[in-house]
Amino acid sequence: MNIRPFDFSEADYEAYATVRRKAHPESPLDLAGLQHLDRTRAPSDVLARFVVEQAGEAVGVLEYATPYYDPKPGVLEVVYYLHPHHQALEGPLWQFLQGRIAPHQPQELQATVREDWPQYRFLTTQGFVEVERRWVSVLDLAHFDPSALARPLPPGITIQPLSALPWQEEAFQRDLYALEIELLGDVPTAEPITPWPFEVWQERSLKDPNLLPEGFFVALEGAHLVGVSMLFKSHRPQTLQTGLTGVRKSHRRQGLALALKLRAAEFAQAYGARYIRTSNHQSNRPMLAINEALGFVKEPATVLLRLSPVPQKPGPLGSQ
Ligand SMILES: CC(C)(COP(=O)(O)OP(=O)(O)OC[C@H]1O[C@@H](n2cnc3c(N)ncnc32)[C@H](O)[C@@H]1OP(=O)(O)O)[C@@H](O)C(=O)NCCC(=O)NCCS
Repeated sequence: MNIRPFDFSEADYEAYATVRRKAHPESPLDLAGLQHLDRTRAPSDVLARFVVEQAGEAVGVLEYATPYYDPKPGVLEVVYYLHPHHQALEGPLWQFLQGRIAPHQPQELQATVREDWPQYRFLTTQGFVEVERRWVSVLDLAHFDPSALARPLPPGITIQPLSALPWQEEAFQRDLYALEIELLGDVPTAEPITPWPFEVWQERSLKDPNLLPEGFFVALEGAHLVGVSMLFKSHRPQTLQTGLTGVRKSHRRQGLALALKLRAAEFAQAYGARYIRTSNHQSNRPMLAINEALGFVKEPATVLLRLSPVPQKPGPLGSQ
């Protein structure tokens, strides 16, 4: 086995995508998304990625990094994918990783894996424990009829796509940012989410290559933003990906979230998509209730795992 640094070239991104496809054919890499994420890292972020080779062929990728979505001091996120024929490399890779992360002295390691992936079994054997579970679920639009669930909007409320709103103007962006931060604070996560500063959000969200202003819906009361449900382009064929859906507390239980999701589904059908994917915390009964009513079908759970404290036992440093 040879472990070498990932060089961020197109060839290495392709090698990453190939390994991921072999490791998890049901979950291909979002290449453009990963490149955007790498480009918009904070200068202070830790990011170390490696390619694992055997007989000159890339059979794995391995990474430890500051968590992109919820960076917290002292926390590193661990990611690895291995070609199924080379799963036995997990042990040596874990040794390598422990040696590499030791100088960073993390207080906690995190990993996000699907419950049916080998990483789940391996990492829990190393002492990682579950923090929370999310369900990815999929709506097949082929036989979906949005009109069956439609209800009239409450008086004074309109739903508009971002493309019809002044989303390139900073004043509007600040309103949208405030809405998203408020709603993110209401998502029932195991621990509070650390929001991105406004400038980081501008760069990462509004310049996301998957942003689809026509599929990003906002509920307004006059000019006041009260709710949101957003669809993004996806690297998966015939698919759109849901981002955040949320409604301000003051406007809940009036059918706004359902109306936003129906509008998004209608858009997706007109756009020519066959599937909408979404991801929800298992504790988010309100959101799950809406998605179940719409007909979303659940896949195996995605689990956030944590190792804390991190054992201080540097292993052999691999072949380089
Ligand atoms: C989840 C959320 C978006 C629902 O918004 P909403 O506008 O209140 O939802 P709706 O009024 O459209 O609800 C439609 C139906 O969903 C179900 N539902 C909604 N909220 C519910 C709740 N708190 N408990 C149980 N069922 C609920 C009901 O069946 C409801 O119909 P009903 O009011 O006629 O009984 C809102 O609670 C929210 O913003 N939560 C915080 C953000 C979040 O967690 N977003 C999801 C993360 S991806």
